[in-house]
Amino acid sequence: MDPLYFDNAATSWPKPEATSAAMERFLRESGGSPGRSGHRLSIAAGRTVLEAREAMAALIGADDPLRIVFTKNATEALNIALRGFLRPGDHVITSSMEHNSVMRPLRQLEADGVALSVLPCSGRGELDPGTIQPAIQSRTRMMVLTHASNVTGTILPIAEAARIAHDHGIAVCIDAAQTAGALPIHVKEQGIDLLAFTGHKSLFGPPGTGGLYIASGLEEQLRPLMAGGTGSRSEFEAQPTFLPDKFEAGTPNSVGLAGLGAGVSWLLARGVETVRAHETALTARFIEGLREIPGITLYGPEDPSLKTAIVSFNIAGLEPSEAALELDERFDILSRPGLHCAPAAHRTIGTFPRGTVRFGFGPFNTPDQIDRALEALCSLAQKR
Ligand code: ALA
Repeated sequence: MDPLYFDNAATSWPKPEATSAAMERFLRESGGSPGRSGHRLSIAAGRTVLEAREAMAALIGADDPLRIVFTKNATEALNIALRGFLRPGDHVITSSMEHNSVMRPLRQLEADGVALSVLPCSGRGELDPGTIQPAIQSRTRMMVLTHASNVTGTILPIAEAARIAHDHGIAVCIDAAQTAGALPIHVKEQGIDLLAFTGHKSLFGPPGTGGLYIASGLEEQLRPLMAGGTGSRSEFEAQPTFLPDKFEAGTPNSVGLAGLGAGVSWLLARGVETVRAHETALTARFIEGLREIPGITLYGPEDPSLKTAIVSFNIAGLEPSEAALELDERFDILSRPGLHCAPAAHRTIGTFPRGTVRFGFGPFNTPDQIDRALEALCSLAQKR
């Protein structure tokens, strides 16, 4: 029997059949270099990459697919947004629930003279939008927030935060690593200027894919992290200034983007709301069951509508890594223990440095799997 895979917050598994099929088809039938040679295989590859861009734009409400820049992951996208935009003397606001993909570039920028304010979140990971206004300074140029925590799943009030930031002319960057595909996103309606996403989680693409949505006009203010060949304007040694080429130097991961495009199309056909409803029901069932087990401490909101399909918990008397190991070896249950690359979030919810055991559900999990996990956790907690 397949293991019970509850590590979808780290990477989704299994992928839809369409993802693997598109990647195999790409390698077998259209594996040219997109935007380069001009022969039929190159054109076919270019079409595949454009289709992935169009699918992404449709998913997030971007009016121009060329505003989607592909990267190798959300981390690269966030680095383009943060390091490309902020200059010494600027001030940036973030939250205490951020992943190190935001915190580490920000700490590096801080060492280079960018001032940083970290808004404190509640013990459940909630951000009070009332804390934003007092943190704004005359030199504040950007606010960067996770859409939802990868530790607790807590959804942050990004649209309200964006309204406050825009009232002060501040650019809004959202880390959607946990939410692109998992929650409805509309960049225009939610006031998102820069949206960093990963392909291999709720978009059902392969690892090595991700991207950055860049709102109109912002591309001029962003410096690319890399320069190099794009297949365009090859007569010039200067990097092109238009999208997406400005930020896409080098041969892209076109086989990965074939998989990403197929994953996003699969999601669009099924409907983000449908997948969200399924995952919310699983989360509710799991939380309800966990509440009945003595010795289990739950973190983050218990109302599943306030979070993504992530549940963090601890079992009294067991280190998170021991619990995850026992779950794996004795019960075939795969989870992620520890700090989840988000020490600030764990400090916020009071679980630093021990961390938690994290379950993350996906569209292929079933209520029966949740019940089997609850039985396993009951037996583990009783033993202690
Ligand atoms: N950031 C990913 C996680 O939360 C890898 O597991």
